[in-house]
Parts: sequence; structure tokens; C-alpha cells
Amino acid sequence: MQACYYDNEKDLYGVPTPCDTLNLSYTGEIKGILTNNCQGCHNNASASGNLNLESDASRTANIAKIIDRISRPAGDPLVMPTSGPMSSCNIQKIKAWQNQGLSTTN
Ligand code: HEC
Repeated sequence: MQACYYDNEKDLYGVPTPCDTLNLSYTGEIKGILTNNCQGCHNNASASGNLNLESDASRTANIAKIIDRISRPAGDPLVMPTSGPMSSCNIQKIKAWQNQGLSTTN
């Protein structure tokens, strides 16, 4: 008797969570990513590298610098956060936020 057995990646590991960059919310996602990963060192009281990222205006004004630093690979001395790159989904979301016009109201 021969068993009929199919290993199916989807059944075994579940469906991978896609990175949704189409329905971005600044207040719901982008702000949280920057607050959690950056604000510890870039705030009103302590602005590392002379960069304060506590206000919405400073986040939009410095987006080119932000994207340059978060896009650097692990091991690059300039990567931000200093502990190493964020998840690729977080990085994609920040880039999509720029591409979609840097709204801070949605
Ligand atoms: C643990 C502390 C720490 C965290 C967390 C951190 N940074 Fe930094 N950041 C620094 C320090 C220190 C410098 C200055 C040295 C340098 O330029 O690399 C700096 C410099 C920078 C600069 C260069 C500023 C300039 O004008 O040249 C940018 C841009 C930046 N950080 C963005 C970010 C972003 C975006 C995040 C979150 C994704 C982040 N940082 C998280 C410590 C941190």
C-alpha cells in the first residue's frame, strides 16, 4: 500500500505575511516605526548626530537622510538604527511613504 503524501509549503509554514505598502497610514504605522526605532536617540532632549526626529515636520524634512541610513546593509558603520537594519517590510514602508507623498495626516 502506498501512501499519498504531498508536502505543501503553504500548509507546513503558513502563508507568509505580505508587506502591505499600498494602504499606508502615517499615524497607524510610519509614526510607530520611527518612534520605536529612532526616537530613543533622536529626540528633543538628545539629538544624536544633531538630528531630532520627534516632530512630524522633522521626519518629512529629513526623509532623504533617513532613507539613506535605513537602506544601508548590516555592518555598514552608518546604518540606522545603529543596532542594525530594521525588517525589510519596515524599510519598504518608509520608502513607500516617501513615494506616496509623505502625508502625516492619514
Ligand atoms: C542607539 C542610538 C540610535 C538610534 C536608535 C538611531 N540612531 Fe540615528 N544616529 C545615532 C548617532 C549616534 C548618530 C551620529 C553618528 C552618525 O552620523 O552615524 C546618528 C545619525 C543619524 C543620521 C545622520 C544625521 C545627519 O544629519 O547626518 C540619520 C539620518 C539618522 N541617524 C537616522 C536614524 C533613523 C531614521 C533611525 C531609526 C530607523 C535612527 N537614526 C536610529 C544614533 C542612533
